Amino acid sequence: MGSVLLRRLLRRLGPLPALHLRRYRGAGAPRAGSAPPLRDSVCTVDLRSDTVTRPGPEMRAAMASAEVGDDVYGEDPTVNELQRRAAKLFGMEDALFVPTGTMGNLISVMCHCRERGAELIVGDQAHIHLYEQGGSAQVRDLADTYKLPVHMDGARLMNAAVALGVEPAEIVRHCDSVCMCLSKGLGAPVGSLIGGRKEFIEQALRVRKVLGGGMRQAGVLAAAGLLSISDMVERLKDDHRNTRKFAQGIQKYASPVCDTNIDAVETNILMFTVNDARISPEEFCDQMAEVTEEEVMAVGRGVRVLLLPMYGDTVRAVWHLDVSEKDTDLALQKLQFVIQKVRKK
Ligand SMILES: Cc1ncc(COP(=O)(O)O)c(C=O)c1O
Repeated sequence: MGSVLLRRLLRRLGPLPALHLRRYRGAGAPRAGSAPPLRDSVCTVDLRSDTVTRPGPEMRAAMASAEVGDDVYGEDPTVNELQRRAAKLFGMEDALFVPTGTMGNLISVMCHCRERGAELIVGDQAHIHLYEQGGSAQVRDLADTYKLPVHMDGARLMNAAVALGVEPAEIVRHCDSVCMCLSKGLGAPVGSLIGGRKEFIEQALRVRKVLGGGMRQAGVLAAAGLLSISDMVERLKDDHRNTRKFAQGIQKYASPVCDTNIDAVETNILMFTVNDARISPEEFCDQMAEVTEEEVMAVGRGVRVLLLPMYGDTVRAVWHLDVSEKDTDLALQKLQFVIQKVRKK
């Protein structure tokens, strides 16, 4: 199942933009006085993932001026500062900066499951299970009964905290360790943070080195992370608002071709279904991503909305700092255009 999903993901992340531009050009150049030229009239709303964000000028400036040292010797002041701030954020004794969420989860699992034959309990939809060939535990009661440590894959911990209106420490209070990504909704180009007890982080430091995750002058990246956990948190509310707006649009304009459970839309990720004999989820995503002359003629501009078909008839859309409310409105406009075409079939 994992490899099928991976193949699908790679297909979606592949040469999509070029393909669709070529397709549009193949339809012939717009006639003079009809549609505006393609370059001026096409915009892209990329909802595939919140990992696609690019650092803005402030973040780049912070990275350029970061004080650095060799972090493998513990001498990078910016990394040390980020780790101090992260430990406080998690309400845990210590924290460790790692290159990716995958490595952060793997390190945590390796530290918790040191004994030969140690086992791991994970949810069937957990990222660790589906994409990382491993996992972490999530149920505290079970953990207490069997004296198991609990690790949280908190890739989007700050989204959850903002949505619930609580401190992140409150969410991870029953966990022994957590891994939070800086490179998703928080907008940093690279990096994740593991939190846990002092001895756990000491072990994690050793495992990080063994896995090749010691990054030397990593302060350049930690500087972006520092900005992420200070300046990028409040704005997550905008992403959540836009996600909900699009979900409401799905119900209003696209039902019953598309459907979603609005009560499940709490943060920046929207899962919706495409369940109609006239269009498959893949075809729906293709049509949302492709710009045709017909669309430019009908609505005055082309909008490429990039989505990710997941499992079964489910499609995923994720909001982030590069998708504004105006972009969300454009995506809704495109949704109506595609749905109208389906209804005419
Ligand atoms: C829930 C979750 N956990 C872990 C990861 C892995 O993060 P990374 O891509 O930084 O390895 C992802 C990535 O999308 C994720 O969505």
